[in-house]
Amino acid sequence: MREGKISPSLMCVDVLNAADNIRRLEKCGADYLHIDIMDNHFVPNITLGPDFAQAVRKISKVPLDVHLMIEKPENFLSQYSFLGPEDILSVHYEATFHVQKALAAIRGMGVRPGIALNPATPFTLLEHILDDIELVLIMTVNPGFSGQKLIPATLEKIRRLRLWLEERGRNSVLIAADGNVSFEYAAHIRQAGADLFIAGSSSVFSPTGSIEDNYARLKNVISV
Ligand code: DX5
Ligand code: ZN
Repeated sequence: MREGKISPSLMCVDVLNAADNIRRLEKCGADYLHIDIMDNHFVPNITLGPDFAQAVRKISKVPLDVHLMIEKPENFLSQYSFLGPEDILSVHYEATFHVQKALAAIRGMGVRPGIALNPATPFTLLEHILDDIELVLIMTVNPGFSGQKLIPATLEKIRRLRLWLEERGRNSVLIAADGNVSFEYAAHIRQAGADLFIAGSSSVFSPTGSIEDNYARLKNVISV
């Protein structure tokens, strides 16, 4: 099993000290920086935007993991033209009629394409786009807000997805978990076969510890 990697979710940073938080995360060894983009249509919330993502790119070399929770994402990809070959740009399967076109366009930008699935969306829908993705982002909560509770059925979904990918010779496709990736749940998510942990308010940004202590604790949990 590949080494577990951590992608802290920047919608959970201290917004008035974002640059400081990002530098601290970089010092912790963050593998990616997760940037949640919301349009108040696909999800009932507005958080970070492309300008924020571009500003992060200016101060950090850590690969970005941009999660578009927006309708018709294919119409907005040009706003992320600053992303590069190490970065991941994920769109929601449920957010466009033209999933393969959106993924092919991301690949055409020279960026790593990811597909995000809401909790109720079956991963078998990915059957005909396995050539077009490098990552599957499994929402373990309904998207839109931090601080929610993990939906237990999504753990089994991750486990079955890992087996399903292996059966198709696609073990190189990364599985990410996003939502209430707590210190407790992270161990179960790891056992289920996930590679990338989107860490928010219930782990790296938990009020129970510093960013540094929380990061080390989560790293410990997923490194078994
Ligand atoms: C949901 C968001 C959250 C965020 C992390 O749309 O994507 O999952 O990244 O928030 P927590 O860890 O608090 O669920
Ligand atoms: Zn996210």
